[in-house]
Amino acid sequence: MTRRVAILISGGGSNMETLVKSMTGDHPARPVLVLSNTPDAGGLAKARALHVPTSVVDHRPFGKDRVAFEAELLKVLKTAKPDIICLAGFMRILSPEFMQHWSGQMLNIHPSLLPKYKGLHTHARAIAAGDSEHGCTVHVVTPELDDGPILGQAKLRIQPDDTAQTLAARVLPLEHALYPKVLRRFAAGDPTPVTLEQ
Ligand code: GAR
Repeated sequence: MTRRVAILISGGGSNMETLVKSMTGDHPARPVLVLSNTPDAGGLAKARALHVPTSVVDHRPFGKDRVAFEAELLKVLKTAKPDIICLAGFMRILSPEFMQHWSGQMLNIHPSLLPKYKGLHTHARAIAAGDSEHGCTVHVVTPELDDGPILGQAKLRIQPDDTAQTLAARVLPLEHALYPKVLRRFAAGDPTPVTLEQ
């Protein structure tokens, strides 16, 4: 049975775009919704151009009331009946109560080689630590931030002249290569982790 995928974004949506474009032909999943928490997310236009339904649940009117924000998010998501949720640059932290609706079926891409550098500023932190390699990770979302079983990683070598900006620019294409591969395996029920090296 074809798995229904909703993709949550907050910004440019380049990962969303590669995921949507990958779900064709004999792919075991199809995109059913792209949802943003910011009305001006560039990814919304990209999703519309790809003929994927879009929704916005703006977090700002809810202020600090995460319960009310998530209730609205849930209402909108449930209308699309997704089996799998892909977080793709979605910059809101979700509660364990929210996650339980798609327990084990919510994926996230994070721009570091987890378990290193959970949270923000991953590229600058990898450079500051003097790391020789860096990359990105797709994992199952669990209540701990940027934790949960790792489904795939893509690595590159940090160059002596790398800055946080150059590293971000070199990691992003790795994300685009990794996330669709992981989603395809995950949707097919194949537990083999994906490893990509540059
Ligand atoms: C990506 O680099 C993604 O890994 C990162 O945000 C960017 C979104 O870009 N996600 C996180 O930092 C999540 N903590 P995109 O909107 O072009 O896909």
